[in-house]
Amino acid sequence: MADFRSKADVPFLIILAMSFGMCLVVVTAKLERFAHSPHRRDGSLIFLVVGDWGRRGAFNQSQVAFQMGRIGENLDVDFIISTGDNFYDDGLMGEHDTAFEESFTKIYTAMSLQRQWYSVLGNHDYRGDVEAQLSPVLRKIDSRWLCLRSFIVNAEIAEIFFVDTTPFVDMYFNDPEGHTYDWRGISSRKDYIGNLLMDLETVLRESTANWKIVVGHHAIRSVGHHGDTTELVEQLLPILQDNNVDFYLNGHDHCLEHISDQSSDIQFFTSGAGSKAWRGDTKGLNRDNLKFFYDGQGFMSVQLWQDVLQILFYDVHGKVLHRWSTSKQPHLAI
Ligand SMILES: *[C@@H]1O[C@H](CO)[C@@H](O)[C@H](O)[C@H]1NC(C)=O
Repeated sequence: MADFRSKADVPFLIILAMSFGMCLVVVTAKLERFAHSPHRRDGSLIFLVVGDWGRRGAFNQSQVAFQMGRIGENLDVDFIISTGDNFYDDGLMGEHDTAFEESFTKIYTAMSLQRQWYSVLGNHDYRGDVEAQLSPVLRKIDSRWLCLRSFIVNAEIAEIFFVDTTPFVDMYFNDPEGHTYDWRGISSRKDYIGNLLMDLETVLRESTANWKIVVGHHAIRSVGHHGDTTELVEQLLPILQDNNVDFYLNGHDHCLEHISDQSSDIQFFTSGAGSKAWRGDTKGLNRDNLKFFYDGQGFMSVQLWQDVLQILFYDVHGKVLHRWSTSKQPHLAI
């Protein structure tokens, strides 16, 4: 009969405990973290947000890029966030796909946009070679580029959590249109999503930043063509609500929109209007909590001070379409 308290088992139990502890460390260390200090003396943070753009300049991509350059200069932005669908129609074919330079390097040419770009993947990116889009080879071609699946940017007054949302969406695992997706990095979808949500919950809970921002490609709430993403409403939204996230940024619907959460202070901002737009099939424009919706091209800016947040949406001419701001007490250092 086995005696669990026998001396011979003790080293085994220690090893078991140690490896369990190490597993926990590995799991929580998975979200790579980047530090990006704002460059203004007052510590304020300013960035632009654009999504769904890479079409070699077509569908007003170049016009949006030009206005981003102009507004980016006025605001003196720290960086640019891309909400995904970076390269149409099917992501990149490889590390040396010319679409990278033709849709990115040669389009966003303004001086003010020669800053770091932080990008997530969209469903169209998953239709190409995902590993290529994540590859450091692209950073050698254009040092502004940084695209990872899920990661964190610590910008002092704000912490920004980038989430890989495509694997959440059931439809892509049995695509009615027959598209194929590059799931090489996601051997077990269930584990991938489970670990990601667990990691995200931990880092959000531990964050002491004054502003907590989450970025994904797919909308949680939208009245555009695709509407709400039910998988994210069910699995991601509760974590954001429980951890005082200020706002969620996404693309996917080719529009600009602002919706408030019904049961928390979270704001949902869609900036997915970097090129092709004007889909014309919006629904639910009378939805409660819909603050703004624009079907055409454009982008948004985010300005954060310790106690104030200001969001602006711009159209293809650089005209401000919607402005929203809020304030809160700054965190006191403990
Ligand atoms: C480009 O933008 C203008 C102004 O909003 C719009 O009238 C035009 O339809 C857009 N072109 C395309 C191809 O979307």
